[in-house]
Amino acid sequence: MSKSASGPTHLGIIMDGNGRWAKRRSLPRTAGHVEGLKALKRVIIEAKEQGIEVVTFYTFSTENWKRSEQEVSYLMHLIVSKLHGELAFYNRHGIRIRARGDLSALPQPVQEAIAKTEAATQSNSAITAVIAINYGGRDEICRAVGKALAASGKQSVTEEEISQHLDLPDLPPVDMIVRSADEQRLSNFLLWESAYAELAFYEKLWPEWGREEIQAICQEYRLRVRKFGGVE
Ligand code: FPP
Repeated sequence: MSKSASGPTHLGIIMDGNGRWAKRRSLPRTAGHVEGLKALKRVIIEAKEQGIEVVTFYTFSTENWKRSEQEVSYLMHLIVSKLHGELAFYNRHGIRIRARGDLSALPQPVQEAIAKTEAATQSNSAITAVIAINYGGRDEICRAVGKALAASGKQSVTEEEISQHLDLPDLPPVDMIVRSADEQRLSNFLLWESAYAELAFYEKLWPEWGREEIQAICQEYRLRVRKFGGVE
């Protein structure tokens, strides 16, 4: 097994530091989320340039409901407005939008915006942007185990059966998970798939991310030797 010749096929991103970015500028936290969206657009463009096929963005976790009602409602409105409002951007750049998480518990307008955007971008093939929303790794595993047991009619399930019942089983497994804002933990993101994912953590706050960070991530990935439990 040798170093990867290319960048990751599937990159997972924990976007962190929107609130701190805003606080440092004496702005409301919501301003950090607006700026975070601009970073998301810069990042997806460069990810496409680098040949990355899938980027999963941790947009709203199953734990984020603990935030103030005002912030939660702002984020939900922002997501709906950007799913609808950025459709031309997604189509111009060949970006397919998909969602992962327990979508059934989201407000109706969010569910509708997701369904419409997924349908409107389903033939785009340059890159897939996955929005992990009301997403929790433990929740996804519980739901997958339930579905796998129901599908098999048995009392136990195999790893393969669980993998087949994750939210988007057709996607390639995540190769690398990165996080901004100098925090070094997974926070319930892609727990099943992180078993063999490469990890990297970066100091810059999410709203400050752009093309350079994606270039650095691809460079870092190429230095990693992936063994999957085997030997070199
Ligand atoms: C983390 O920063 C950021 C979030 C929980 C929200 C990220 C969401 C977006 C950028 C909007 C995405 C929209 C679409 C359409 C995909 P934080 O608030 O935890 O920052 P802090 O740790 O500094 O407080």
